[in-house]
Amino acid sequence: MKFQRLRGTKDILPPESLLWEKVIINTFNILKNYGIKLIITPTIEDRNLFIRSIGEGTDIVIKEMYEFKDKKGRDIALRPEGTASIVRAYIENSLPEKIDLCYLGPMFRYEKPQKGRNREFYQIGVESFGVASIYKDVEIIKLAYDILKAVGINDFTLRINMLNCKECNTDYIKSLTKYLNKNINTLCDNCRGKIERNAILRVLDCKEDKCRSITANAPLIKDFLCKKCMWNLDLAKDLLNNLKIPFKEDFHLVRGLDYYTGLVFEFITDKLGPQQNTLLAGGRYDNLVKEMGGKDIPATGFAMGIDRIVEVLAAEGIQEEQKLNIYIVSDSERMQKAFLLLLKLRENNISAVMNFDNKSFKSQMREADDKKVKFVLILGEEEEKGNFVSMKDMKTGEQKKVGNEIVIEEVKNLLAQDVIK
Ligand code: HAM
Repeated sequence: MKFQRLRGTKDILPPESLLWEKVIINTFNILKNYGIKLIITPTIEDRNLFIRSIGEGTDIVIKEMYEFKDKKGRDIALRPEGTASIVRAYIENSLPEKIDLCYLGPMFRYEKPQKGRNREFYQIGVESFGVASIYKDVEIIKLAYDILKAVGINDFTLRINMLNCKECNTDYIKSLTKYLNKNINTLCDNCRGKIERNAILRVLDCKEDKCRSITANAPLIKDFLCKKCMWNLDLAKDLLNNLKIPFKEDFHLVRGLDYYTGLVFEFITDKLGPQQNTLLAGGRYDNLVKEMGGKDIPATGFAMGIDRIVEVLAAEGIQEEQKLNIYIVSDSERMQKAFLLLLKLRENNISAVMNFDNKSFKSQMREADDKKVKFVLILGEEEEKGNFVSMKDMKTGEQKKVGNEIVIEEVKNLLAQDVIK
């Protein structure tokens, strides 16, 4: 019997996995520059962790959670996102109040699979705890911007919005509730349920056309912002302009999770279709740590969908090639010497491969060509007798003899020159 992977999951295979590698490595290089520390948390958590943090009225909790009972009857969920788990770990392990953390891992949402939308997908995320300043929000947006550029995404739109703080939220919710109740008969069943459950803001997430026609004219958050929120928004816009990061204000942007409180943002692409066009998204969530049983600590962060980033790069025809420096060609009699040379090259941080199948020189050369190595080192009978290896530059076709004792030095020199070129 043959098994198949589950719908909405994928095997990430070479050569596509080379793009994944590039995205992950480039992202982590930037994260290091920002002094952000890695955190790894479990993929399974208490189901209530997500209900309490993401919110009962959200699509994730209502429709998309992978939930099950374990053998002891405990309610478990596969994590649908990272923030809740990181906040849990931050509180549970009494981490320093002020700390910036990053993570990488699979997330699970039972959604309708399509291009850029999977049931298991990968996020790289950042959560920054302990700083309430709007400068932190802008630093986080700049970090996200730097990451997108570093992984090769250049064509995107940044949308921002300021959500109400505790002080100015009540009036807005009152006004929105009044407006939605006036139009309740036009809204979909799901949205009516959201109003009943008091998840008023979540109506603004609805993608149904009839609901969108109503929410398009709903009262705007910006008209209810208090002085402080307004001041923060203006400063954020000023800073983004100074950093030359183009952005659009989107007064309907509320994000699909309940925990957001202040500046929220999304980086959007037009390469993946309207339902899954967000590459990276996040925002401030100043109440969550306290609501989850911790101290009153402000926080902000974002998560980037690696699957979507790779899809966009692939759609743009970007391919990553494995970069191998050396292929060693030899024969059965010289296999052991060749093998030792292979290991020595690797000990010197020089990427190298060889073939152990006793193939003809010709087919080994063909394989070296296929692998697009920079140099081939040949170790045959003549070379063994003369205490040298033949070194072929695969770009120019030039071949020369290199004494055994200086092979590593010579390879290093040539590779260094190649980098400089
Ligand atoms: P989110 O917007 O739900 O936010 O997800 C963040 C990113 O994950 C999305 O922008 C998208 O790239 C990717 N993503 C989401 N669902 C899928 C899917 N089904 N298939 C492929 N990619 C997907 C959060 O998860 C928040 N925790 C972000 C955050 C961190 N806010 C503050 N800190």
